[in-house]
Amino acid sequence: MIEIKNTFIIHIINYEKLTDSYQKLIQTAKAQTQLAYAPYSHFQVGAAVLLNDGNIIGGNNQENSAFPSGLCAERVALFYANSQYPQTPVKAIAIAAFQEGKFTSKPISPCGACRQVMIETETRFGQNIELLLYGKKEIFLLKKASDLLPLSFSL
Ligand code: THU
Repeated sequence: MIEIKNTFIIHIINYEKLTDSYQKLIQTAKAQTQLAYAPYSHFQVGAAVLLNDGNIIGGNNQENSAFPSGLCAERVALFYANSQYPQTPVKAIAIAAFQEGKFTSKPISPCGACRQVMIETETRFGQNIELLLYGKKEIFLLKKASDLLPLSFSL
């Protein structure tokens, strides 16, 4: 039997050590949580997409009473970015969550569907997307979205 091992690295990084542009990205993701429409889960997620040209696109979760019709913050931001700037590669995405009056202490991690969309965006532009997962206690930095979804689907 042949075994294929798959590992990836999570960098735990201090906010102060981040570049100005990544600090701004996290601030945008945090601010975006306040604009979320989450009357059912009360879990407000904010995402901020950094494009290669320095542009930052924000998004947040949009829920709906017909539950599957809602959309995660990451896909709201990413689909908007890709629809409006189809020629501009995505460099990084920051994600933050706000619950019961405060930001989560642990970083939140994107759901499987959002990972799949991020990976396709990496493939589309031929460029890795760095992920900044914000938590009050710690921030995780991942060098590429595809690390989070081994054997992802592709046509
Ligand atoms: N949610 C996101 O927006 N992003 C994630 O990465 C995980 C979950 C949203 C979906 C739903 O509106 C709420 O958080 C609770 O699951």
